[in-house]
Parts: sequence; structure tokens; C-alpha cells
Amino acid sequence: MKPHLIILGAPGSGKGTQAAKLVEKGYKHVSTGDLLRSEIAKGSELGQKVSGIISRGDLVDDSTVMALLKANCNVDKVSYIFDGFPRNIAQAEMLEAELLQGRKTLAVYFKIDLGILIDRVVNRRTCGSCGEIYNLATKPPSVLNVCDKCGANDSLKQRKDDTREVVSNRLKIFANTVDPMLAFYKSRKALVEIDASLAEKEVFSALEKFLE
Ligand code: AP5
Ligand code: MG
Repeated sequence: MKPHLIILGAPGSGKGTQAAKLVEKGYKHVSTGDLLRSEIAKGSELGQKVSGIISRGDLVDDSTVMALLKANCNVDKVSYIFDGFPRNIAQAEMLEAELLQGRKTLAVYFKIDLGILIDRVVNRRTCGSCGEIYNLATKPPSVLNVCDKCGANDSLKQRKDDTREVVSNRLKIFANTVDPMLAFYKSRKALVEIDASLAEKEVFSALEKFLE
């Protein structure tokens, strides 16, 4: 089995975009943001508990997200891409102690100047049917509001937490939490950095090269 991959990167750095491409290489993509949004969409008790937190761009508490992640992974069956988890050093330690437990894992840091990310994020649209990620400024669908991938009509949605104000808060939280996580994976010799300011295809080529 290939090592599990952890993508560390700021809001808008391209984690979801690249993880979707890596699925074609046999990985299973798990995004804690997607899992939480799906709980909100279902109107579950958990969804109701986290909805306000996510709309403000704050972090959901560590043990709630860890429990959700554990319920949605079987790390012995397939190699995972962890997107959006861990978010802080406590989650990095929990992920190792409660789920990965010594299994081969690599962390990839999507390094990028945070200053360019607000524009990227506010222009993001996501297909509500298949999850394909677009950008109105740089990667619009060929036909307005129709998904190129699955053909769904009127399906491109904006996330509630993708407003300028909320993205600023999300970026601030990221900047305050990233360094100890990088140090954690660096000390285990399991950290690689990728320049996430490159074009989507070039970021993917860099990932492929490192995964060979
Ligand atoms: P989550 O869903 O994880 O959001 P995030 O980390 O803020 O990251 P994004 O999904 O916004 O960005 P991305 O890196 O996936 O970028 P994408 O590929 O879409 O979390 C949301 C919320 O849930 C959190 O704020 C928190 O409340 C909660 N949460 C989740 N996990 C949690 C946890 N572990 N603990 C506690 N709370 C948690 O790309 C963005 C845009 O850029 C798109 O338009 C795309 O087309 C474009 N783009 C992508 N790549 C490129 C490129 N190379 N060049 C130009 N444009 C590009
Ligand atoms: Mg994402």
C-alpha cells in the first residue's frame, strides 16, 4: 500500500483541487470540511452544532472532528489523502495516536503567499452534484452555471464561508496554527513542500514527481 498523504495548506491553496486529481491514482480523498458540510446539509445534530462555527470561519473542536474522521476512514484498506485534517498540532498528534498509529504517512505542504488567497476563494464555485471545483476568474465552466464534469444544470454554488470577511478569519487562524504542524512532520522526516502558487497542472506535476 502507498503511504497515506496529508495535505497541509491554507484556505484556497488548492487542497481539494489536487486531492480530486490524486483520486485517479488510487487514493481515497477524505476532507473534514466536506464531511462537516454534508452533516450541515443533512441537518443532523452534529450539523446543527457546527453550522455557526463554520459560517464564522472558526475551527470546530478537535475531538468532534477526530470522531467524524475516524467514522469515515479505514486506513488499512486504502491509502488516504487527508485534506483539512490536521488543523493544529493537537489534531496532528491525535491523528497519529488514534488513527495512523505508525502507518507510513507523508505530509505535503502547499506553500503559498496568503495575500493572493482571498481572491481565489471568493471566486470559487463548487458543483453541488459532483463536487467539481471551479473559479469564476480563472477556471469558469464552459457554459455558464453548468458543470463541465457531470453536466448538472444550475449546480454551481458558493460556500457560505467564502466571503471576504470570513476568509480573512480562516487565513488568520491558519497562519497562527501552521508552524507547529510543519515542525511535527519535519521532525519525523515526513514533510515535503510544494509551490502552490503555480498553475493547477504544474502543482499536480510536482505532486506526481514527488510521489514516484
Ligand atoms: P475546509 O473545507 O477544509 O476549507 P479550507 O481548509 O479553508 O480550504 P478550502 O476548501 O477553502 O480550500 P482548498 O485548499 O481546498 O482550495 P480549492 O482546491 O477548493 O474547511 C472549512 C471549515 O470547516 C473550516 O473553516 C472549519 O470551520 C471546519 N473544519 C474543517 N476541517 C476542520 C478540522 N480539521 N478541525 C476543525 N474545523 C475544521 O481551491 C480554491 C480555489 O482556488 C478554487 O476556485 C480553485 O479553482 C482555485 N485554484 C485551485 N488551485 C489553483 C491554482 N493552482 N491556481 C489558481 N487557482 C487555483
Ligand atoms: Mg477544500
